[in-house]
Amino acid sequence: MATERTLSILKPDCVERGLIGKVLAVFEEKGLKPVAMRLTHLSQAEAEGFYAVHRERPFFKDLVKFMTSGPVVVQVLEGDNAVAKNREIMGATNPANAAPGTIRKLFAQSIERNTVHGSDSVDNAKVEVAYFFRSTEQHGYEWKR
Ligand code: CMP
Repeated sequence: MATERTLSILKPDCVERGLIGKVLAVFEEKGLKPVAMRLTHLSQAEAEGFYAVHRERPFFKDLVKFMTSGPVVVQVLEGDNAVAKNREIMGATNPANAAPGTIRKLFAQSIERNTVHGSDSVDNAKVEVAYFFRSTEQHGYEWKR
C-alpha cells in the first residue's frame, strides 16, 4: 500500500468544545500520523479559497461563516492509503449517516458542525496540503510504539 499524505481540519465545533485531543487520539490510534499541524483562525478569503469547489452550492455562505467562526486545527496526516483511510475514520459527511466508531458519529452535531474535514481524493489532497503547508513545514518520523 502506498504511503500518502492528506489534509485534515479540526473544525471550529471541535476546537470550541475541547475535543482536539480526543479527535487526534482517534487518528493516532488508527494509524494516521500528524506530520504537520497548526492552530489558526481562517480569514474569509482563506475559507472561500479552500472551499472554492463548493462556491455554487446553496450551503457555501454558511459553510464559510462557520469555518471562520473560531479557530481550527489544520494538519497533514500521513499513513498507508491515508486519503481513503482518513475518510473511513471520519465517517459520512452527515453524522446521521456516519458508521459507529467514526469521528463524526462520536462527536459531530450536524452536517455543518461535523467536526473534521478530510481531502476526498489523492489529487485533491496534494492541492489541499499545499494550500496550508510548505514542504519544509511537514516533518515525517517513525513511530516507536
Ligand atoms: P467538508 O468535508 O468540510 O466539505 C464541505 C462541507 O460543507 C462539508 O464537510 C459539510 O460540513 C458542509 N455542508 C454543509 N451543508 C452541506 C450539504 N447539504 N451537503 C454537503 N456538505 C454540506
